[in-house]
Amino acid sequence: MREQLAKMKAEALEALGRVQTPSDLDTLRVQYLGKKGELTAVLKQMGKLSAEERPAMGQLANEVRAVLEEALDRTGRRLEQAALEARLKAEAVDVTIPGAVHDIGHKHPMYIALDEIKDIFVGMGFTVLDGPEIELATYNFDKLNAEEGHPSRDWSDTFYFDTESRVMLRSQTSPMQVRAMETMPLPIRIIAPGRVYRKDEVDATHSPMFHQVEGMVIDKGVTMADLKGTLNTVIEKLYGEGTVTRFRPHHFPFTEPSCEMDIQCHKCGGKGCPTCKGEGWIEVLGAGMIHPNVLRMSGIDPEVYSGWAFGMGLERLAMGRFKIADLRLIFENDVRFLEQF
Ligand code: PHE
Repeated sequence: MREQLAKMKAEALEALGRVQTPSDLDTLRVQYLGKKGELTAVLKQMGKLSAEERPAMGQLANEVRAVLEEALDRTGRRLEQAALEARLKAEAVDVTIPGAVHDIGHKHPMYIALDEIKDIFVGMGFTVLDGPEIELATYNFDKLNAEEGHPSRDWSDTFYFDTESRVMLRSQTSPMQVRAMETMPLPIRIIAPGRVYRKDEVDATHSPMFHQVEGMVIDKGVTMADLKGTLNTVIEKLYGEGTVTRFRPHHFPFTEPSCEMDIQCHKCGGKGCPTCKGEGWIEVLGAGMIHPNVLRMSGIDPEVYSGWAFGMGLERLAMGRFKIADLRLIFENDVRFLEQF
């Protein structure tokens, strides 16, 4: 029995030395120390021993069990350690390998121009507002002094969502004038950039969707001179000192008097070319003194307060700013075009 135990111990230790996986380790544990294992089998023979031999053999068997248990645990830890090392090795990241180079996009030229415009106005104390593109006709027209049937509604009375013609894609950013007047404390200085929609056909200077930047000031004693001074300052900041502008009389239902502002064509310097359709000038915005009816409808007393507003075409301004000849380039998003800015 003594030899049996010694042999079993030697075999077990040798087998443990070779074991590679946790499941093999379990098998060995069962094989040697399990209820039906080899050690139990040896112990079953204890009955055959004499009373003198039994204690010594029992002690030896316990020593073998302790040695094997310890060896099993040690092997278990060895396997765990090896598994951890293998995983660390497999998951190692070589931070010195150069990364894959991705093409990174960049800001669209129109948004570059918009950011410049925002900066200029914010520097003058204006707040930037955002407003709905799906607008109520009340805000797009009625509260802007153009009620149902007004001839100025014809050209833009277009994209409606319901048969009662109440909800529409806004045709201008001017409804933001009303929204600001209704919600903000006086005095007000805001700009409100955003998309607008019209039934225009696409050509070098038109698109059924384009962007406007609305601007508005309401305070005591505000005049047309403030409007012209502000716009000329903004245009010079945007296009450089000495940029030539001109103001022409015009009509909008919500301003009185009204005007349009042109800048001298950036392409031909005023001589006339395809970009300015031979005019030498490019129209960039409509503006005027806010009509007393509009102020009154939004709860502002026109005897105390006055104001001006403008709405500029952002694409046209960006075209001038970056000397872009065709509006369609702005919407096509051809990277060869966009990469140039
Ligand atoms: N909303 C006008 C347009 O789209 C522009 C404008 C804005 C005119 C503000 C006067 C005042 O043409």
